[in-house]
Amino acid sequence: MEDVIVGLDIGTTKTCAVIGFQNENNQIEVIGVGVAPSKGLKNGVVVNIDNTASSIEKAIDEAELMAGYEVAGAVVGISGHHVKGENSRGVVAISNKNRTITPIEVKRVIEAAQAVVIPVDREILHVLSKEFSVDDQTNIKDPTGMSGVRLEAEVHIITAAVTNIQNLMKSVERAGFGCQDVVFNPLATAEATLSRDEKELGVALVDIGGGTVDLMIYLEGGVTYTSVLSVGGIHVTNDISIGLRTPIDSAEMIKRKYGCAVLDLVDASEMVEVPSVGGRAPRKLFRQELTQIIEPRMTEIMEMVDLELQKSGKKDMLAAGLVLTGGGSMIEGCVEAAERVMSMPARMGVAREIVGLKDRVATPQFSNGVGLLKYGIRMSQFRGRVFEKKKMGIVKKIKGWLENYL
Ligand SMILES: Nc1ncnc2c1ncn2[C@@H]1O[C@H](COP(=O)(O)OP(=O)(O)OP(=O)(O)O)[C@@H](O)[C@H]1O
Ligand SMILES: [Mg+2]
Repeated sequence: MEDVIVGLDIGTTKTCAVIGFQNENNQIEVIGVGVAPSKGLKNGVVVNIDNTASSIEKAIDEAELMAGYEVAGAVVGISGHHVKGENSRGVVAISNKNRTITPIEVKRVIEAAQAVVIPVDREILHVLSKEFSVDDQTNIKDPTGMSGVRLEAEVHIITAAVTNIQNLMKSVERAGFGCQDVVFNPLATAEATLSRDEKELGVALVDIGGGTVDLMIYLEGGVTYTSVLSVGGIHVTNDISIGLRTPIDSAEMIKRKYGCAVLDLVDASEMVEVPSVGGRAPRKLFRQELTQIIEPRMTEIMEMVDLELQKSGKKDMLAAGLVLTGGGSMIEGCVEAAERVMSMPARMGVAREIVGLKDRVATPQFSNGVGLLKYGIRMSQFRGRVFEKKKMGIVKKIKGWLENYL
């Protein structure tokens, strides 16, 4: 049997484990899925290790049972406002005797590009190469084999707070599993939902979760901007709970069943039933009243994303538009709300190019988990070929270099 990998998405509202492997036809085959409510996170960050560990244990146990495999470790996703992305450049001279660029020079230039000052309380998660220049020639994807005297690299560096990484890893270990890798969530989600063409043309991936919105912008095949916002579907549910004076659980149920993000999409005569607090009889109200609670919050979330798109300076270049995913994007009218606020075409994104339990995981809540599985498979194959698999210290420096060759 090939290497079985577990993608572990520890979200603010749910933890999900996706088990799979690459089959003999080179397809990613999903063989187990487990989901458990998350109780130990706030806005994507672990705030209670024991609670997080018990969600992890439940999710992996369930996935193991379904897959018929016991696993020892997982590829773990990380998010939260503390994760930051920045662009950086590095330059090296090609000094070998025939002035030809080999993987050694590429490694050197990427190392040079990541020699930015990283505060001691932060750790590099990923170093993603965007493009290279050789002498005066720019826009080179892979400079290996080219001749020149000067090699320049442009990279996107993703860093995270050390304590938050540690708490996440402690939670996984407390649950009895090893952390094979820590991956910034949207990078994995992109792996599952975006096509190569979209990444080339320019696309913004927006993962609307329960407590975070992860944004990642691709242009010309590389990551150019990342951002994590501390908002999500939980805020929509809270608004409904307050607005309709109904408990959180029923607000959540109402949202999923009748929620809509755009008023125009709802028929003025449509009625819905709302359970009330304290044993009172359920009430009926116009669905438009519910929409009037949801629409401003969804619009606000989209405006926050739009602000980030503008900050990136790349908004006008994103020919492939927006791809929305995550449970929070499942509310009716989400695509329309995004298109309206950002004046860009949008589509829903779910995991693609998978077999096995496809029907179970090809929904927006699982994009991240499947992405982590796919990412993990790709990395393990590559590492298996080139390096001995090392035990994860905190986050290995070598990883960033590896990613540039995938
Ligand atoms: N059918 C649905 N309609 C509307 N909202 C939904 C639906 N299904 C799930 N959601 C919302 O999706 C959110 C959870 O999404 P998701 O599972 O992607 O988040 P998470 O990964 O747990 O959190 P985060 O990524 O923010 O850490 C919840 O707020 C939930 O209410
Ligand atoms: Mg999530």
